[in-house]
Amino acid sequence: MEPKSLITTRYGATSTADDIVRGADLSGRHALVTGASSGIGAETARALASAGAAVTLAVRNVDAGLAVADSIAAATGRSRPQVRALDLADPDSVASLVSQWDSPLDILVNNAGLVAGASTGARRRCGALGCDLGGGGARRGSGRWVQPRGQGGGRLAG
Ligand SMILES: NC(=O)c1ccc[n+]([C@@H]2O[C@H](COP(=O)([O-])OP(=O)(O)OC[C@H]3O[C@@H](n4cnc5c(N)ncnc54)[C@H](OP(=O)(O)O)[C@@H]3O)[C@@H](O)[C@H]2O)c1
Repeated sequence: MEPKSLITTRYGATSTADDIVRGADLSGRHALVTGASSGIGAETARALASAGAAVTLAVRNVDAGLAVADSIAAATGRSRPQVRALDLADPDSVASLVSQWDSPLDILVNNAGLVAGASTGARRRCGALGCDLGGGGARRGSGRWVQPRGQGGGRLAG
C-alpha cells in the first residue's frame, strides 16, 4: 500500500493573518469569528474583512466587540463588521445566535477560549456549563454551533 502523503502548508510559525488572506477575494462570503473582541480573534476578523468578507464578531463583551468593529472598519475601509453576543459556555446563548443567523456561513473561526496555563483570575467567567478554565467550554459550545450548520461540505477551522 502506498504511504499517504503528508499534508503540507506554505505557512509557518511566523505567518500572519494577512499572509493567509493575501490574494484572496472574499467578497460575498460570510465569516463568523468567535472571541473576536480581543487578541487573535480580532486580528483574524480584521484580516478577513480586509479581504472583503462580511464579518460577524461573536463576543461575550459586546462593548469591546463594537470597539473592535469600529477599528476594523477604520483600518480596512470595508464594511463595519456585525457584532453578536455569544457566550459559548452558555447553551442558551449559542442557541440564540444560531436562531438569529439567517445568512450563509462560509467561514467559521472557532477562536474563543482562554490560553492554556494563563492566569485566569480576572477574566474567568462561568456559564451554564461551568467555568471555562481553558478552551474546553468554548469548544463544547462551538460544537453546538457547528452541528446544525456544518452539513453540506463546509470546512471547519479552529
Ligand atoms: N495566544 C497564544 O499564544 C495562543 C496559543 C495557543 C492557542 N491559543 C488560542 O487562541 C485563541 C485566542 O487566544 P488569544 O491569545 O487571542 O486570547 P484572548 O485575547 O484572551 O482572546 C480570547 C477570546 O475568547 C473569548 N472567550 C473566552 N471564553 C469565551 C466563551 N465562553 N464564549 C465566548 N467567548 C469567549 C474572550 O472573551 P472575553 O474578552 O469576554 O474574555 C476573548 O475575546 C484561544 O482559543 C487560545 O486558546 C492562543
